[in-house]
Amino acid sequence: TQTYQITLLPGDGIGPEIIGVTVKVLKAVGQQCDLEFKFTEGLIGGVAIDQTGNPLPQETLDICRESDAVLLAAIGGYKWDNLPRHQRPETGLLGLRAGLELFANLRPAKILPQLVDASSLKRNIVEGVDIMVVRELTGGVYFGEPKGVFSTENGQQRGVNTMAYTDAEIDRIGKVAFETAQKRNKKLCSVDKANVLEVSQLWRDRVTALSSSYPDIELSHLYVDNAAMQLVRDPKQFDIIVTGNLFGDILSDAAAMLTGSIGMLPSASMGEGKPGVFEPVHGSAPDIAGENKANPLAQVLSAAMMLRYGLDQPIAADKIEQAVFNVLDQGYRTGDIMSEGMTLLGCQEMGEVLLKSI
Ligand code: NAD
Ligand code: IPM
Ligand code: MN
Repeated sequence: TQTYQITLLPGDGIGPEIIGVTVKVLKAVGQQCDLEFKFTEGLIGGVAIDQTGNPLPQETLDICRESDAVLLAAIGGYKWDNLPRHQRPETGLLGLRAGLELFANLRPAKILPQLVDASSLKRNIVEGVDIMVVRELTGGVYFGEPKGVFSTENGQQRGVNTMAYTDAEIDRIGKVAFETAQKRNKKLCSVDKANVLEVSQLWRDRVTALSSSYPDIELSHLYVDNAAMQLVRDPKQFDIIVTGNLFGDILSDAAAMLTGSIGMLPSASMGEGKPGVFEPVHGSAPDIAGENKANPLAQVLSAAMMLRYGLDQPIAADKIEQAVFNVLDQGYRTGDIMSEGMTLLGCQEMGEVLLKSI
């Protein structure tokens, strides 16, 4: 039996509900694949603020560093929205990503055939969509200095953030993107705003320079405004998209709707070593928290990414993805992906049918 130390970070809102379902699924798959998971829970986000005053307690970072992988749900909520920035839940999440040096965030947006009609776009546009967004996660405008709200000489307030990338930061995310492209359809689109931003010009130059080491990959470039438009006009033109932190955040939410719901989209946040953090693309959904309405599948699929990319257990990962496929085939839906003739389930009940299917 292979044993893994997994840190669970349920966080806020729907987090505990979707993590609960996912732990059961992992245990069931573990039994079949002879894997044992040792789970330790940590505090992050709003719950961590309430219990310790800090959205990312040192203890949480320590247990994450000692584990083989981290399964994170989501953080944030109305209650903590007016705290000073360093005490916000989001700051805890950013601190975790920075603390573990998780510079590469893989966000696959693949439509499952059963959900074609749950997308807000037409069937012929979304059928067959299979995109991987490679989002830079520890740089760009999220982390650049200077940042803050400063007073100007004439008594104004001035809010400042800085979008910055070094060549080394661009090269390392670029490499991840080219290598990911080699395992897929060998088409990479780099998204930037090089017509306006210096930082994007450097981004484009470095990605272009890198491409000479990957002659098998067809590289293209798009400005981010056009990329947003193309994603909804003709998403099937994309295979891999590589982009900076902010553009990746925005484009991956847009890509989510191609697949029917943001409640379906998993992600993997990885650095050079272990451990990675595996987290859905969506947030804590405070509007439906505690109502047993959340779609747990993005979290469950994030656990599959954990098995595939973090723990190198592709067979167990396949089993989870197959179980998701099966329950959708059987017509089970949560509210966000509901369509006519299907069976509406709550979060818990979706967990139960998943277990039956494993
Ligand atoms: P959100 O993703 O939480 O919710 C957007 C909409 O999608 C809501 O209507 C919500 O009900 C719905 N939704 C999201 N996930 C769902 C699921 N699994 N099943 C069904 N419906 C789902 O984004 P938001 O409302 O902009 O942000 C809410 C809070 O979450 C904020 O505090 C924000 O900072 C935080 N947030 C956290 C993360 C994260 O932890 N990675 C990501 C995004 C937002
Ligand atoms: C995400 C979220 C986070 C981000 C927030 C909550 C800090 O939107 O994971 O996509 O912007 O990266
Ligand atoms: Mn986001």
